[in-house]
Amino acid sequence: MTVRVGVIGTGMIGQDHIRRLTKVLKGCEVVAVTDVDRARAKAAAATTPNARVFDDSETLIAADDVEAVLIASWGPAHEAAILPALSAGKPIFCEKPLATTQEACLRIIEAEVAVGRRLIQVGFMRRYDAAYRALKATVEGGSIGAPLMFHSVHRNATVPKDLYTSDMAVSDTMVHDIDVARWLLDDEVGRVRVMTPRRNSVGGALRDPIFAVMEMRGGALATVEVSVNIGYGYDIRGEISAEQGAATLAESNPVVVKHSGTFAGRVPADWRERFIAAYDAEIAEWIAAAAAGGVMGPSAWDGYAIAAVSDAALKAADTGEAVSVELGERPALYDA
Ligand SMILES: NC(=O)c1ccc[n+]([C@@H]2O[C@H](COP(=O)([O-])OP(=O)(O)OC[C@H]3O[C@@H](n4cnc5c(N)ncnc54)[C@H](O)[C@@H]3O)[C@@H](O)[C@H]2O)c1
Repeated sequence: MTVRVGVIGTGMIGQDHIRRLTKVLKGCEVVAVTDVDRARAKAAAATTPNARVFDDSETLIAADDVEAVLIASWGPAHEAAILPALSAGKPIFCEKPLATTQEACLRIIEAEVAVGRRLIQVGFMRRYDAAYRALKATVEGGSIGAPLMFHSVHRNATVPKDLYTSDMAVSDTMVHDIDVARWLLDDEVGRVRVMTPRRNSVGGALRDPIFAVMEMRGGALATVEVSVNIGYGYDIRGEISAEQGAATLAESNPVVVKHSGTFAGRVPADWRERFIAAYDAEIAEWIAAAAAGGVMGPSAWDGYAIAAVSDAALKAADTGEAVSVELGERPALYDA
């Protein structure tokens, strides 16, 4: 069976997912694209054998030949695309963030609960990365005992100077670390603090780096360093410290070269290089589930809970205080 996909938003990651759906994965086809920048949508359609360009997301979602919807527009536009796709009963892959506020995420959850079955997968791709999966399997296997702390480091070589704001270090970047902290520790965040050391002068007035401490409800701690102008590459690190041992993400390069008294390996340039296989795996799983009429993977509840932590962390960054994360009751639809 071939799942016919409509893509909303044909920017950087939208184009990458179109390439993946067209050239990498089997069992799927891009039949429709739309973007508020029509020229960009046309250029993206030209990279596929059959995609038509639609004027807007509503008409794309309503099209009979669109069986599943991939949303890769800007975060503030996600809710307006998700709600009609839910009403149409079409499986949705939505790039992170699910929506840009906790309130908008709650409206999405209520709409999905009203449908009565899961239709939304959110693009938290680290859960599909082989190294993170091995880390999770180690924790669940029990050999190192109960996890007590998770240390996460998220370093970007650089970010676009005019587009990247201080808040995005949390709402756009740290959201991935919040996701894996919840997933690895199998718990929700109770309180969060954000500290700001001396600024990296490369970023000018940008609040960079930041250091966050998340207190999980069950008492474990998760720490996160976000540094977005560190120059040397895209470096993602993670370590679980447990009662009887520790487990650490290995370096992502497959080979280390020792030569003339030094050793060296490659640091990925950016997220596309580091997580290319994870993106392939997450979209492959979405297509397989969509072919069966549903979805798996990170849920709208995950998107909502991460938005709640992100909102609290932004407050914490402004005040320097620990801020509690308020979550409602998790609907049964999201029970594992
Ligand atoms: N999972 C990840 O690691 C990851 C990586 C990069 C980006 N993202 C997320 O993907 C989304 C897109 O990011 P990007 O880097 O591709 O941004 P981008 O600016 O390159 O592309 C976004 C596109 O959406 C279009 N758009 C905006 N509003 C629209 C609307 N209402 N209808 C249709 N099109 C609309 C824009 O014209 C633009 O072409 C963001 O939510 C971002 O956070 C996730």
